[in-house]
Amino acid sequence: MNILVVGSGAREHAIAWKLRQSPQVGQLYVAPGNAGTAAIATNLDVPATHIEKLAEAARSHHVDLTVVGPEAPLAAGIVDRFRAQGLPVFGPTQAAARIESSKVFAKELMRKHGIPTAEARVFSSYDEAKRYVQAAPLPLVVKADGLAAGKGVTVCQDHQQALKSLHDAMVARVFGAAGDRVLVEECLAGREVSIFAFTDGIHLSPLVAACDYKRLLDGDRGPNTGGMGSYSPPEFWTDPLSAEVRRAIMEPTVRAMAAEGCPYQGVLYAGLMLTPQGPKVLEFNCRLGDPETQAVLPRLRSDLLGVILSVVNGGLQNAAVEWRQDACVGVVLASGGYPGEYRRGLPIRGLEGVDSDILAFHAGTRSDPALGVITDGGRVLTLAALGSSLKDARHRVYANIGRVHFDGVQYRHDIALLLGSGQQARRS
Ligand code: AMP
Ligand code: GLY
Repeated sequence: MNILVVGSGAREHAIAWKLRQSPQVGQLYVAPGNAGTAAIATNLDVPATHIEKLAEAARSHHVDLTVVGPEAPLAAGIVDRFRAQGLPVFGPTQAAARIESSKVFAKELMRKHGIPTAEARVFSSYDEAKRYVQAAPLPLVVKADGLAAGKGVTVCQDHQQALKSLHDAMVARVFGAAGDRVLVEECLAGREVSIFAFTDGIHLSPLVAACDYKRLLDGDRGPNTGGMGSYSPPEFWTDPLSAEVRRAIMEPTVRAMAAEGCPYQGVLYAGLMLTPQGPKVLEFNCRLGDPETQAVLPRLRSDLLGVILSVVNGGLQNAAVEWRQDACVGVVLASGGYPGEYRRGLPIRGLEGVDSDILAFHAGTRSDPALGVITDGGRVLTLAALGSSLKDARHRVYANIGRVHFDGVQYRHDIALLLGSGQQARRS
């Protein structure tokens, strides 16, 4: 089968890398891809959000299946438009992708179907929201309804900050229409965990859990980023906890989406807070996470294409979806200055010098005829390794990380460094 992967991050490189291992995969294309995907697939120069051009490319390259990485094309309806043209595609429809693209939709779904989540109020009037926030208990969380490139959520410690967040979203409209409605939510405390499962709309695969690190600097300091690293499975993830999350959150959500007339197919991603009252949903996403994918897919023992086909064609209950016991740790190498201004075009050295068991998933990279592989984005690479334990996997990654270099490179030193409850307090 000829496959097209849509996207250009380390998540998409990991998806392409895993698909490449499938004996059923013929031609593999990535649009637009990066220097890493170019080494294992053919990059197509089409942006991930240009749905009609992607469909044209799928047709002209005789693509049998398209796998969509990022949320933007899913929220824009790539699945609906591909299907309307008879092009098989893996991911939720636009209506089902609302589970991520509208936090109001997701909150109302959870409320109606008894899925545990933070208490929240929805506002479409700034004045009403302002009045509510002025008297609401602190801390509280202000969330823009729509997609805001990960910037739409503010955890507010005081009323002034909450009022500013409301003003930014609803009056200054810094997120455009995504901020026309806001949620004002109770602040939950606990360990945060990302849960992933494949679903064909009825059945749900075994769950896999990962932790990600959003802050730039060690000890969860510094600004928020797109993610600086991840590990799987979390040290606190147990079979009983997995069973509880499956029973109380994941299965009811799949049933709820079907009951609402928008059955959900693809990867369902739940961002949870493990509170003293049990796991509660912070958000749903309609795709694999980045950087979690780089720590999760190496743990998939099964053939990814087989799993995806059983989702697209139905019958996931008969497919093997097995997760290895081994742990995986992924550490992001970012450009100096990221998440602010940074330079591009810097030569990346030492990639050929890493141990053979190290996975180097590219994100912002490009091949230059003269300079070789150069930087071309904020998050440049994820280095990942499997190990018999988190400690082992962590050791393997960090033993190699100094061998890869570009000017200004920055990375966290504490990915998967388990600190017990101290870490919990800082990370919440
Ligand atoms: P989201 O985009 O909804 O995942 O929110 C981004 C981040 O904000 C999450 O990963 C949490 O760290 C934090 N967050 C979101 N909602 C809450 C909440 N109700 N209580 C505490 N933290 C939250
Ligand atoms: N890891 C967060 C995300 O993919 O949205």
